[in-house]
Amino acid sequence: MSDLARTRADFPILHQQVNGKPLVYLDNGATSQKPRAVIDALVHYYERDNSNVHRGLHTLSMRATDAYEGARTRIAKFIHAADPAEIIFTRGTTESINIVARSWAQAHLKPGDVILTTEMEHHSNLVPWQQAAKAAGATLSYIPVLGADAEGGLDYAALDTLLTPAVKLLAFTHISNTLGTVNDAAELCRRARAVGAVTLIDAAQSIGHAPIDVQTLGCDFLVRRRALPPRSRRRGRHLDRRRPVHRPRPDRRANPRLRLPRLFRPQDVRPHRHRRALRPPRPPRQTRPR
Ligand SMILES: Cc1ncc(COP(=O)(O)O)c(C=O)c1O
Repeated sequence: MSDLARTRADFPILHQQVNGKPLVYLDNGATSQKPRAVIDALVHYYERDNSNVHRGLHTLSMRATDAYEGARTRIAKFIHAADPAEIIFTRGTTESINIVARSWAQAHLKPGDVILTTEMEHHSNLVPWQQAAKAAGATLSYIPVLGADAEGGLDYAALDTLLTPAVKLLAFTHISNTLGTVNDAAELCRRARAVGAVTLIDAAQSIGHAPIDVQTLGCDFLVRRRALPPRSRRRGRHLDRRRPVHRPRPDRRANPRLRLPRLFRPQDVRPHRHRRALRPPRPPRQTRPR
Protein backbone atom coordinates (compact mmCIF):
# COMPACT_ATOMS: atom_id res chain seq x y z
CA MET A 1 0.00 0.00 0.00
CA SER A 2 1.40 3.45 -0.89
CA ASP A 3 1.90 6.14 1.80
CA LEU A 4 -1.02 8.07 0.32
CA ALA A 5 -3.34 5.06 0.41
CA ARG A 6 -2.26 4.30 3.99
CA THR A 7 -2.89 7.89 5.07
CA ARG A 8 -6.29 7.95 3.34
CA ALA A 9 -7.18 4.69 5.07
CA ASP A 10 -6.65 6.40 8.45
CA PHE A 11 -9.42 8.92 7.75
CA PRO A 12 -12.91 7.35 7.71
CA ILE A 13 -14.43 10.51 6.22
CA LEU A 14 -12.36 10.01 3.06
CA HIS A 15 -13.90 6.58 2.50
CA GLN A 16 -16.74 8.08 0.48
CA GLN A 17 -17.39 9.40 -2.98
CA VAL A 18 -18.49 12.96 -3.69
CA ASN A 19 -19.75 13.82 -7.18
CA GLY A 20 -18.90 10.27 -8.18
CA LYS A 21 -15.22 10.61 -7.21
CA PRO A 22 -13.19 9.62 -4.11
CA LEU A 23 -13.35 12.57 -1.71
CA VAL A 24 -10.35 14.90 -1.72
CA TYR A 25 -10.38 17.43 1.12
CA LEU A 26 -7.96 20.39 1.23
CA ASP A 27 -9.58 22.84 3.66
CA ASN A 28 -7.54 21.70 6.65
CA GLY A 29 -6.55 25.25 7.55
CA ALA A 30 -10.19 25.87 8.49
CA THR A 31 -11.28 22.46 9.82
CA SER A 32 -9.08 19.40 9.75
CA GLN A 33 -10.53 15.92 9.35
CA LYS A 34 -10.01 13.45 12.14
CA PRO A 35 -8.15 10.15 11.76
CA ARG A 36 -9.61 6.94 13.19
CA ALA A 37 -7.33 7.13 16.28
CA VAL A 38 -8.71 10.56 17.25
CA ILE A 39 -12.34 9.55 16.64
CA ASP A 40 -11.83 6.37 18.69
CA ALA A 41 -10.22 8.32 21.55
CA LEU A 42 -13.19 10.73 21.64
CA VAL A 43 -15.76 7.91 21.59
CA HIS A 44 -13.79 6.04 24.27
CA TYR A 45 -13.72 9.18 26.44
CA TYR A 46 -17.45 9.87 26.15
CA GLU A 47 -18.37 6.21 26.65
CA ARG A 48 -16.09 5.63 29.64
CA ASP A 49 -14.52 8.68 31.30
CA ASN A 50 -16.62 11.78 30.59
CA SER A 51 -16.73 13.88 33.75
CA ASN A 52 -15.61 17.10 35.44
CA VAL A 53 -11.97 17.88 34.78
CA HIS A 54 -10.21 19.24 37.91
CA ARG A 55 -13.45 19.48 39.83
CA GLY A 56 -14.29 16.15 41.36
CA LEU A 57 -12.75 13.47 43.51
CA HIS A 58 -14.60 10.48 42.10
CA THR A 59 -13.11 7.95 39.70
CA LEU A 60 -14.47 9.39 36.46
CA SER A 61 -13.32 12.87 37.35
CA MET A 62 -9.84 11.52 38.12
CA ARG A 63 -9.73 9.73 34.78
CA ALA A 64 -10.97 12.80 32.90
CA THR A 65 -8.39 14.96 34.66
CA ASP A 66 -5.61 12.49 33.85
CA ALA A 67 -6.64 12.45 30.18
CA TYR A 68 -6.77 16.26 30.07
CA GLU A 69 -3.39 16.70 31.73
CA GLY A 70 -1.96 13.88 29.59
CA ALA A 71 -2.96 15.87 26.50
CA ARG A 72 -1.22 18.94 27.92
CA THR A 73 1.97 16.94 28.43
CA ARG A 74 1.84 15.47 24.92
CA ILE A 75 1.31 18.90 23.35
CA ALA A 76 4.23 20.28 25.38
CA LYS A 77 6.42 17.50 23.97
CA PHE A 78 5.11 18.10 20.45
CA ILE A 79 6.24 21.73 20.43
CA HIS A 80 9.19 21.16 22.82
CA ALA A 81 7.86 23.45 25.55
CA ALA A 82 10.04 23.58 28.64
CA ASP A 83 7.13 22.67 30.92
CA PRO A 84 3.58 21.35 30.31
CA ALA A 85 2.35 24.16 32.59
CA GLU A 86 3.15 26.55 29.74
CA ILE A 87 0.33 25.07 27.65
CA ILE A 88 -3.01 26.82 27.99
CA PHE A 89 -6.04 25.36 26.24
CA THR A 90 -8.29 27.82 24.45
CA ARG A 91 -10.92 27.50 21.73
CA GLY A 92 -8.60 28.68 18.96
CA THR A 93 -6.07 31.12 17.63
CA THR A 94 -8.36 34.14 17.69
CA GLU A 95 -9.36 33.58 21.29
CA SER A 96 -5.71 33.05 22.29
CA ILE A 97 -4.62 36.34 20.72
CA ASN A 98 -7.52 38.15 22.36
CA ILE A 99 -6.53 36.73 25.73
CA VAL A 100 -2.98 38.04 25.32
CA ALA A 101 -4.31 41.41 24.14
CA ARG A 102 -6.74 41.69 27.05
CA SER A 103 -4.35 40.46 29.74
CA TRP A 104 -0.68 41.01 28.96
CA ALA A 105 -1.19 44.01 26.67
CA GLN A 106 -3.67 45.75 28.94
CA ALA A 107 -1.34 45.38 31.90
CA HIS A 108 1.86 46.43 30.13
CA LEU A 109 1.16 48.90 27.32
CA LYS A 110 1.19 52.63 27.95
CA PRO A 111 0.89 55.75 25.79
CA GLY A 112 3.81 56.10 23.38
CA ASP A 113 4.50 52.34 23.20
CA VAL A 114 4.52 50.60 19.84
CA ILE A 115 2.97 47.30 18.80
CA LEU A 116 4.71 46.00 15.70
CA THR A 117 3.02 43.54 13.37
CA THR A 118 3.22 42.83 9.63
CA GLU A 119 1.22 43.68 6.54
CA MET A 120 0.41 40.02 5.97
CA GLU A 121 -1.60 39.21 9.12
CA HIS A 122 -4.90 37.35 9.32
CA HIS A 123 -7.47 39.74 10.86
CA SER A 124 -7.32 37.56 14.03
CA ASN A 125 -3.80 38.88 14.56
CA LEU A 126 -4.67 42.44 13.64
CA VAL A 127 -7.96 43.56 15.19
CA PRO A 128 -6.96 42.69 18.81
CA TRP A 129 -3.81 44.83 18.38
CA GLN A 130 -5.77 47.71 16.84
CA GLN A 131 -8.04 47.61 19.89
CA ALA A 132 -5.17 47.21 22.38
CA ALA A 133 -3.24 50.10 20.80
CA LYS A 134 -6.31 52.34 20.90
CA ALA A 135 -7.06 51.46 24.54
CA ALA A 136 -3.48 52.12 25.68
CA GLY A 137 -2.74 55.16 23.50
CA ALA A 138 -0.04 53.10 21.78
CA THR A 139 0.86 53.02 18.09
CA LEU A 140 0.46 50.12 15.70
CA SER A 141 3.20 49.77 13.05
CA TYR A 142 3.62 47.28 10.24
CA ILE A 143 6.63 45.51 8.75
CA PRO A 144 6.08 45.91 4.99
CA VAL A 145 5.67 42.98 2.62
CA LEU A 146 8.00 43.07 -0.38
CA GLY A 147 6.61 42.60 -3.87
CA ALA A 148 6.39 39.53 -6.09
CA ASP A 149 10.15 39.66 -6.81
CA ALA A 150 10.77 38.75 -3.16
CA GLU A 151 7.96 36.16 -3.25
CA GLY A 152 5.88 38.10 -0.76
CA GLY A 153 8.56 38.06 1.93
CA LEU A 154 8.86 40.55 4.76
CA ASP A 155 11.14 43.55 4.40
CA TYR A 156 13.67 42.50 7.05
CA ALA A 157 15.80 45.59 6.25
CA ALA A 158 12.93 47.76 7.53
CA LEU A 159 13.37 46.18 10.97
CA ASP A 160 16.44 48.35 11.51
CA THR A 161 14.23 51.43 11.68
CA LEU A 162 10.99 49.83 12.94
CA LEU A 163 12.35 47.81 15.87
CA THR A 164 13.11 50.52 18.39
CA PRO A 165 13.04 50.25 22.20
CA ALA A 166 9.52 51.76 22.03
CA VAL A 167 8.30 48.44 20.54
CA LYS A 168 6.80 46.42 23.37
CA LEU A 169 5.29 43.64 21.30
CA LEU A 170 6.07 42.04 17.96
CA ALA A 171 3.14 39.91 16.74
CA PHE A 172 3.52 38.08 13.44
CA THR A 173 2.33 35.07 11.53
CA HIS A 174 4.67 32.12 11.09
CA ILE A 175 3.16 31.11 7.74
CA SER A 176 0.85 33.53 5.96
CA ASN A 177 -2.61 32.17 5.17
CA THR A 178 -2.89 34.41 2.10
CA LEU A 179 0.64 34.46 0.63
CA GLY A 180 2.05 31.18 1.89
CA THR A 181 5.15 33.10 2.99
CA VAL A 182 7.19 31.33 5.67
CA ASN A 183 8.61 33.98 7.97
CA ASP A 184 11.94 33.56 9.73
CA ALA A 185 10.34 33.37 13.16
CA ALA A 186 13.53 32.65 15.09
CA GLU A 187 15.25 35.68 13.54
CA LEU A 188 12.25 37.94 14.20
CA CYS A 189 12.13 36.81 17.84
CA ARG A 190 15.87 37.33 18.21
CA ARG A 191 15.66 40.86 16.81
CA ALA A 192 12.65 41.68 19.02
CA ARG A 193 14.37 40.36 22.12
CA ALA A 194 17.36 42.61 21.41
CA VAL A 195 15.12 45.66 21.99
CA GLY A 196 13.28 44.10 24.92
CA ALA A 197 10.03 43.41 23.03
CA VAL A 198 7.72 40.49 23.78
CA THR A 199 6.90 38.23 20.83
CA LEU A 200 3.73 36.47 19.74
CA ILE A 201 3.77 33.98 16.87
CA ASP A 202 0.53 33.12 15.08
CA ALA A 203 1.15 29.45 14.29
CA ALA A 204 -2.36 28.70 13.00
CA GLN A 205 -0.98 27.72 9.59
CA SER A 206 2.43 26.39 10.57
CA ILE A 207 1.59 23.98 13.37
CA GLY A 208 0.27 21.37 10.94
CA HIS A 209 2.97 21.86 8.32
CA ALA A 210 6.29 22.29 10.05
CA PRO A 211 7.97 21.01 13.20
CA ILE A 212 7.65 23.63 15.94
CA ASP A 213 10.21 24.01 18.70
CA VAL A 214 9.25 26.93 20.92
CA GLN A 215 12.58 26.88 22.73
CA THR A 216 14.51 27.24 19.48
CA LEU A 217 12.12 29.90 18.21
CA GLY A 218 12.55 31.82 21.46
CA CYS A 219 9.02 33.29 21.44
CA ASP A 220 7.01 34.46 24.44
CA PHE A 221 3.61 33.38 23.10
CA LEU A 222 2.84 30.91 20.37
CA VAL A 223 -0.83 30.66 19.49
CA ARG A 224 -2.50 27.96 17.49
CA ARG A 225 -5.73 26.13 17.09
CA ARG A 226 -6.99 24.95 20.47
CA ALA A 227 -3.89 25.81 22.52
CA LEU A 228 -1.88 28.79 23.58
CA PRO A 229 1.54 27.77 24.72
CA PRO A 230 3.52 30.71 25.96
CA ARG A 231 7.21 30.28 26.44
CA SER A 232 7.69 31.41 29.96
CA ARG A 233 11.07 30.42 31.36
CA ARG A 234 13.01 33.25 29.88
CA ARG A 235 11.15 36.22 31.27
CA GLY A 236 8.05 34.92 32.94
CA ARG A 237 5.85 37.92 32.35
CA HIS A 238 2.79 36.52 30.71
CA LEU A 239 0.13 33.87 31.08
CA ASP A 240 2.22 31.50 33.08
CA ARG A 241 0.33 28.92 35.04
CA ARG A 242 3.33 28.36 37.28
CA ARG A 243 3.35 31.93 38.50
CA PRO A 244 -0.28 33.02 38.73
CA VAL A 245 -0.99 36.47 40.12
CA HIS A 246 -2.93 34.81 42.89
CA ARG A 247 -1.66 31.41 43.92
CA PRO A 248 -4.04 29.79 46.36
CA ARG A 249 -2.66 27.68 49.16
CA PRO A 250 -2.60 23.98 48.22
CA ASP A 251 -5.41 23.12 50.60
CA ARG A 252 -7.60 25.90 49.15
CA ARG A 253 -7.21 24.93 45.49
CA ALA A 254 -10.30 23.76 43.64
CA ASN A 255 -8.50 20.53 42.89
CA PRO A 256 -5.69 20.11 45.39
CA ARG A 257 -4.92 16.74 43.81
CA LEU A 258 -3.26 18.47 40.89
CA ARG A 259 -0.28 19.73 42.85
CA LEU A 260 -0.12 17.12 45.56
CA PRO A 261 2.27 14.20 45.49
CA ARG A 262 0.91 11.28 43.55
CA LEU A 263 0.21 9.23 46.68
CA PHE A 264 -2.31 11.51 48.31
CA ARG A 265 -5.41 9.98 49.83
CA PRO A 266 -8.79 11.55 49.00
CA GLN A 267 -9.59 11.85 52.70
CA ASP A 268 -6.56 14.15 53.08
CA VAL A 269 -8.13 16.66 50.76
CA ARG A 270 -10.43 19.27 52.16
CA PRO A 271 -13.59 19.87 50.13
CA HIS A 272 -13.33 23.20 48.41
CA ARG A 273 -15.39 26.20 49.37
CA HIS A 274 -18.20 25.55 46.88
CA ARG A 275 -18.78 22.09 48.24
CA ARG A 276 -18.60 23.31 51.83
CA ALA A 277 -21.30 25.82 50.93
CA LEU A 278 -23.51 23.02 49.58
CA ARG A 279 -23.21 20.98 52.77
CA PRO A 280 -26.49 21.13 54.72
CA PRO A 281 -26.24 23.43 57.73
CA ARG A 282 -25.51 21.72 61.05
CA PRO A 283 -28.55 21.35 63.30
CA PRO A 284 -28.46 23.79 66.22
CA ARG A 285 -26.77 22.42 69.35
CA GLN A 286 -29.09 20.95 71.89
CA THR A 287 -28.66 22.65 75.20
CA ARG A 288 -29.54 20.60 78.17
CA PRO A 289 -32.40 22.05 80.24
CA ARG A 290 -31.14 23.03 83.66
C1 LIG B 1 -2.88 32.75 9.97
C2 LIG B 1 -4.17 32.56 10.70
N1 LIG B 1 -4.34 33.14 11.91
C3 LIG B 1 -5.48 32.99 12.60
C4 LIG B 1 -6.54 32.25 12.12
C5 LIG B 1 -7.78 32.11 12.96
O1 LIG B 1 -7.74 30.83 13.54
P1 LIG B 1 -8.88 30.29 14.54
O2 LIG B 1 -9.99 29.80 13.65
O3 LIG B 1 -8.21 29.14 15.26
O4 LIG B 1 -9.31 31.37 15.46
C6 LIG B 1 -6.43 31.65 10.87
C7 LIG B 1 -7.55 30.87 10.32
O5 LIG B 1 -7.54 30.38 9.22
C8 LIG B 1 -5.21 31.80 10.14
O6 LIG B 1 -5.04 31.24 8.93
